[in-house]
Amino acid sequence: MSIVLFSLIALLWAEEEQPEPYFFEPFEDDSIGTRWIPSEDPYYNGTWVIEDRLVDFLEEGRKGLTMTTPKTFNGISCKSMFTADASEFVVQYEVKIQEQPVECGGAYLKIINQDYEPRSFNDSTTFAIMFGPDRCGSKNKVQFIERIQNPKSGHWAEHSLAHAPQALWDNYTHLYRLVLTADQRFEISIDGKVEISGDMNEEGMFEPPFEPPKTVADYSVKKPDDWVDEAEIVDVNDTKPEDWDEDAPMEIRDPNASKPDDWNEDEPLYIPDPNATQPADWNEEEDGKYEIPMIENPACESHGCGKWEAPLIPNPNYKGKWSPRMIPNPDYKGPWAPPQIPNKNHFIPQNLHVFGQLYGVGIDVLALTPHVLFDNIYIGRSLIQAMEIANDTWVPRHEAEMLDKKLNEQKQRKLMRAQQWSQFKAEPTLGGKAAIFKDLVLDLFADNWAIGVFICGGILCLIIFCCTFLCRACSRVVKTEVNPEGEQSSSPSEESTETSTEEKKEESPSETSTEESKAEEKSTPEQPIKDEKKDKEEEEPAQPRKRQSQSPAPKKGGKKPRRDQ
Ligand SMILES: *[C@@H]1O[C@H](CO)[C@@H](O)[C@H](O)[C@H]1NC(C)=O
Ligand SMILES: *[C@@H]1O[C@H](CO)[C@@H](O)[C@H](O)[C@H]1NC(C)=O
Ligand SMILES: *[C@@H]1O[C@H](CO)[C@@H](O)[C@H](O)[C@H]1NC(C)=O
Repeated sequence: MSIVLFSLIALLWAEEEQPEPYFFEPFEDDSIGTRWIPSEDPYYNGTWVIEDRLVDFLEEGRKGLTMTTPKTFNGISCKSMFTADASEFVVQYEVKIQEQPVECGGAYLKIINQDYEPRSFNDSTTFAIMFGPDRCGSKNKVQFIERIQNPKSGHWAEHSLAHAPQALWDNYTHLYRLVLTADQRFEISIDGKVEISGDMNEEGMFEPPFEPPKTVADYSVKKPDDWVDEAEIVDVNDTKPEDWDEDAPMEIRDPNASKPDDWNEDEPLYIPDPNATQPADWNEEEDGKYEIPMIENPACESHGCGKWEAPLIPNPNYKGKWSPRMIPNPDYKGPWAPPQIPNKNHFIPQNLHVFGQLYGVGIDVLALTPHVLFDNIYIGRSLIQAMEIANDTWVPRHEAEMLDKKLNEQKQRKLMRAQQWSQFKAEPTLGGKAAIFKDLVLDLFADNWAIGVFICGGILCLIIFCCTFLCRACSRVVKTEVNPEGEQSSSPSEESTETSTEEKKEESPSETSTEESKAEEKSTPEQPIKDEKKDKEEEEPAQPRKRQSQSPAPKKGGKKPRRDQ
């Protein structure tokens, strides 16, 4: 219902004249060095190019902005002045990670809010918005940072979305979109699917929150000298008990132990090694007199030797040093903290979607793997317009990519089935054959589910048919045997209900299966886009596509907005 309503609104809206976007860059020509100026800051050692995608399934709009050198920092910007003060603020662009895998790197944009020299664009060039995918190790997110100025203190602060959604790093073209609205809400979507949305002033949504704290600590107030912040004091009335022996040792010899009977105190623990002989090369003048090495007395292995002593055990009378006990301090005032006073820099953030004067788009990212491609960068005041652009640029490419993905997967499965089939033929046991056959059939159905439904439906019908036939035959036999005359009259009505349900069951599966086989026919490679489009419309309610089909000749202006300079 809401979708229908929304598409209706979108339709009406789209009929109206769309405002010019603030900025739109489809990268149709090579504008490196003219519009897009690489930073000359020595920190950036990567090279930027505008070139065709490495893999593409479309003939139109193949080019994008990409960096070509691995393991580099890359900075580039397009200076373009505009004022963003409308009731909606939209950033949208496409990213294609052409080379895998990306372990660390960014693909985010910065919307610059200071007048600057493009050749010296760098990390310290200030931005109003930073938005887009960022990844390093286990950290993976769609960054959204907004910088705002405190009107009271003049201080600028960066506010980051606390629970940013995960970005996608496969090699398909993905559409990232940020929408800010006048009711102080934001929405981030990937490929037209909303990943997160909410109130920008909601607690915990941004870190730090846009609204500064209402009160602050007054550090001009010092802790009073007489402030008591010891929670416990020594109990002066506590005295050491009479029987407390501070000198009692921790361990004592076990008084209950006694020397074992076979303990021989006369036997030495160590004896000279009886097998030792003076080495042949021993030189008494150099090495000194030869001494026979001592070894452990083997006689001590079976019984104890040497002087016997009782083993050490913990002393039950050990108490250690006595100290008086602690008691709560009656004068305790709690930990001291400076008093809270109203924050003179507090303000209620408003118009988080309005940015005043902006100066263009910058990209300032690390690229360990090259060929991260940017395309169709849109900054404007209309979600509908952004959707229209996406429908013209991203949607057809996405559809072509998804179709390619599907065909690739099918091809893979076909290869696997061929392998399974040869396994099946080679398998000696019947059980093994059956298992492989089952996998094979299930897989075949997964690829050609219309056939699967058709065959399953057919088998089901056959079973139902056989059962009813058998039951009827049985009941007739039973009835004629048990009750030759009576009850016969009720049987025709029973039979008629049975046949009617049977007919229904037979009808429905065949109906669906014909529809499905039609659908299957459509997805043959000759008409690839059409079938995918059907799916796409359900996935992304980007209604302007519907509008297109109604107005066969869309206005050129609406389709490809003029590039902002
Ligand atoms: C670029 O600079 C970084 C850091 O200075 C360095 O680690 C990297 O190897 C450099 N890459 C190239 C291609 O020069
Ligand atoms: C993704 O990468 C694979 C392997 O490198 C390639 O075969 C495929 O065509 C790529 N797909 C896209 C959409 O670029
Ligand atoms: C020694 O044995 C007696 C009697 O069994 C016992 O009461 C006493 O606690 C023992 N002494 C030690 C230090 O274990």
